[in-house]
Amino acid sequence: MREVNRIILIACGTASYAALIGKYAFERLAGIPTEVDVASEFRYRDPIIDSHTLIFVISQSGETADTLAAAREAKRKGAFVRGIVNVVGSTIARETDGGTYIHAGPELAVASTKAYANMVAILLLYALQFGRSRRLSLATGRRLLGALSEIVPKMEKALEQDKKIQKLAEKYQNYKNFLFLGRGINFPVALEGSLKLKEISYIHSEAFPGGEMKHGQIALLSENFPVLAIMTKNQLYEKMRSNIEEVKARKAPVILIATEGDDKAKELAEDIIYVSETMELLEPLVNTIPLQLFAYHMAVLLGRDV
Ligand code: BG6
Repeated sequence: MREVNRIILIACGTASYAALIGKYAFERLAGIPTEVDVASEFRYRDPIIDSHTLIFVISQSGETADTLAAAREAKRKGAFVRGIVNVVGSTIARETDGGTYIHAGPELAVASTKAYANMVAILLLYALQFGRSRRLSLATGRRLLGALSEIVPKMEKALEQDKKIQKLAEKYQNYKNFLFLGRGINFPVALEGSLKLKEISYIHSEAFPGGEMKHGQIALLSENFPVLAIMTKNQLYEKMRSNIEEVKARKAPVILIATEGDDKAKELAEDIIYVSETMELLEPLVNTIPLQLFAYHMAVLLGRDV
């Protein structure tokens, strides 16, 4: 672990968004430069890899062809390749040099949900372990583990909002376009919310980092283009607030994911879903759930086969 000076996380789709969260964690907790590559790009470029590069390939099924090909390419170039895989005995699990099964249980739909949450949790644990072998203090490590062990009731609380989210989907089911916004560790959450919506309900959606929206995307916004934004209480809260004010100036309806007790958020939102507060690095575990439920209900209401 001490020899590693660079990490590359390789995956497709939802797993690649879990990887983006992993990047934040590895850089923040362990100070190791970390890249994320979608597998279909990695395998066709000329990645610079040496024996100090650690590669993680992340896959729910363990069978995604691009991810498998990327793992083979990385091994051919001499990297040590670890898998983070759900399906026990799958091809990626067998072909990697080592790794971790996430044991999320079977995913019955193509869209991965609980596997995503477990990928995030495993990546956080890896980052914590790398951090502790380097610069991370025992106290910070313990605080993170404490917060992680308290995360399940917070995730359950998000799931309990199912009925409210169903009503929200009823209200928005006829819109044709959605924009998802997030910043920092919640940008991958926005990407995941957007992918779920388009993949299972076939509604057009895009995701942008809040600060990037003004460089083009904002031109599309109108009262017919709702924006789902994650504005939880973290270091980028004020920045996100000002991005949402820009959205409001375009008259786009705003649906906010906000932290419980943040009454001021109501001023900005047409609709609001409150989630429990947790450590910033753990926020994706909670904040993704309302977005996945929203996509699910939109799809069901539109008669799609989820
Ligand atoms: C894609 C699916 O084909 O594979 C995505 O459409 C999924 O929903 C992606 O996230 C990656 O799958 P896996 O099994 O490698 O995690």
